[in-house]
Amino acid sequence: MYRVIYASRATAEMSDIELEGLLVEARMRNELEDLTGLLLYFGPDLADAPSFLQVLEGEREAVETVYELIARDRRHRDVRLVAAGDVEERMFPDWRMGLEYVTYDDLARAVPGLGTPDRPLVVMAELVTDPVRAEQLLVTATY
Ligand SMILES: Cc1cc2nc3c(=O)[nH]c(=O)nc-3n(C[C@H](O)[C@H](O)[C@H](O)COP(=O)(O)O)c2cc1C
Repeated sequence: MYRVIYASRATAEMSDIELEGLLVEARMRNELEDLTGLLLYFGPDLADAPSFLQVLEGEREAVETVYELIARDRRHRDVRLVAAGDVEERMFPDWRMGLEYVTYDDLARAVPGLGTPDRPLVVMAELVTDPVRAEQLLVTATY
């Protein structure tokens, strides 16, 4: 199994309908390519949001192919790799692509010490340089 985690900035705020549309596309191809994963959408109440954090997992070739496609998508920019490599097993075997809408409160609860009220969280800057926290956030965001 191979896994990629990346962070990006949404080009514009995404409505629920736009996020749903994105997921329908994503799930179709992920089904064909046997990919699974989770997409976090950080709402505009966070410092450098709206932004995304996504984990994509499956066979290496499929992950790399789809990651290349995603990276070129105009709905986001500043796509930055947080982590990439072989893993023992999938984190989200049951999700062709899950979606979670993350707020500041969720983040503060999920990842203690990641941003504080007097030092607002900067999602991209902090997560891109800290793959362990990024992974922790992906796991805890689903509870
Ligand atoms: C934040 C974000 C996450 C995405 N996640 C996936 C994904 O998991 N799988 C996927 O196939 N496409 C995903 N897409 C959509 C692809 O970029 C692309 O639009 C889609 O695969 C359709 O490609 P096509 O027009 O060549 O069919 C994502 C796009 C964005 C902006």
